[in-house]
Amino acid sequence: MGLPEGFDIADIAISPALVLAPMAGITHLPFRRLVRKYGPPGLMFTEMLSARTLPAEFFDRPGFVQCDDAEHPISYQIFASCPEDAEAATRKLCEGPADIVDLNLACPAPEIAKKRKAGAHLLSDLDMVGKILSAMKAVSSVPITVKIRLGKVPDRGFLTDLSLVLKENEVAAVTIHPRITGEKLKRLSRWEYIGYMKSLMAVPVIGNGDVKGREDCLRMIDETGCDGVMVGRAAVQKPWIFSEIAGKQLDINGEFLLHVYREAVRLFSDYFEESRFLGRIKEFTWYFSKNMKFGHHFASLIQNADSLAMVKKIVDDKFSGSY
Ligand SMILES: Cc1cc2nc3c(=O)[nH]c(=O)nc-3n(C[C@H](O)[C@H](O)[C@H](O)COP(=O)(O)O)c2cc1C
Repeated sequence: MGLPEGFDIADIAISPALVLAPMAGITHLPFRRLVRKYGPPGLMFTEMLSARTLPAEFFDRPGFVQCDDAEHPISYQIFASCPEDAEAATRKLCEGPADIVDLNLACPAPEIAKKRKAGAHLLSDLDMVGKILSAMKAVSSVPITVKIRLGKVPDRGFLTDLSLVLKENEVAAVTIHPRITGEKLKRLSRWEYIGYMKSLMAVPVIGNGDVKGREDCLRMIDETGCDGVMVGRAAVQKPWIFSEIAGKQLDINGEFLLHVYREAVRLFSDYFEESRFLGRIKEFTWYFSKNMKFGHHFASLIQNADSLAMVKKIVDDKFSGSY
């Protein structure tokens, strides 16, 4: 079986059937520019955005909600703990460039799930999920989607109950990252639950978890019947991954890696002021350096850099073979 050409979320064509995952601290505008440069997926997500603070953001200034004209369709992901915040954020996003608004029902990080009672926490309160989705739907001019984890334990009965709430509120697509709530990313995701979710929903189901290249992607589609595949960490390591999955032959050599990394430094530093640039490039480098021989050493040097000039010097030294 090959890669499906695409699928539709409501009337929005997603082609190819590949999706860049939402990743906090990573899927900002300059990173999305980098991915687009080397072969875009059919849909990109923003980082997850706080529904409470989002209404104060500006679409025409560097920040969390700005996007390029060329990157449509784009999905803005929010996390919210109450219908009022979700409604205000959805209203704001619909005034801007959002093609889709996605509700995060997946994030297990303590500051989101425990402290703010959002993200994966909501999976323990399906009544609240219904209220939040209904509030979003009431004010939205774009499709509303969700990204879910499995809940506290792997349980088909729970997914069935959740699917009823999603259907009742007419969500337009579901992304499933099939790990239980507190599970670390080191443990393999349970793809069988992607297939189960697909059997429950009439709208598109996007599978997510551990796709590292074309072979995994085709296997996920084959094994689960999902409509699209979302890629997270592997897209940070290999921003060209969507071209690779689409079947393009690429020569990944040292020169190419230098080119991509320098492009990341340029795009990030053009967009962010220096201190934010440093945070973002350090986060990106943890993943990207896995492509390199002695990548861990390179990543450690970058972690200690305290200026753009120092980052550039480390890159020059690395690629001139100084270490
Ligand atoms: C650094 C990082 C940040 C993430 N931030 C988010 C987020 O903002 N929203 C979300 O739904 N998932 C988030 N995730 C989870 C990913 O979207 C994805 O579900 C997970 O990494 C599994 O996919 P993968 O195996 O392709 O990486 C994040 C993951 C990572 C590694």
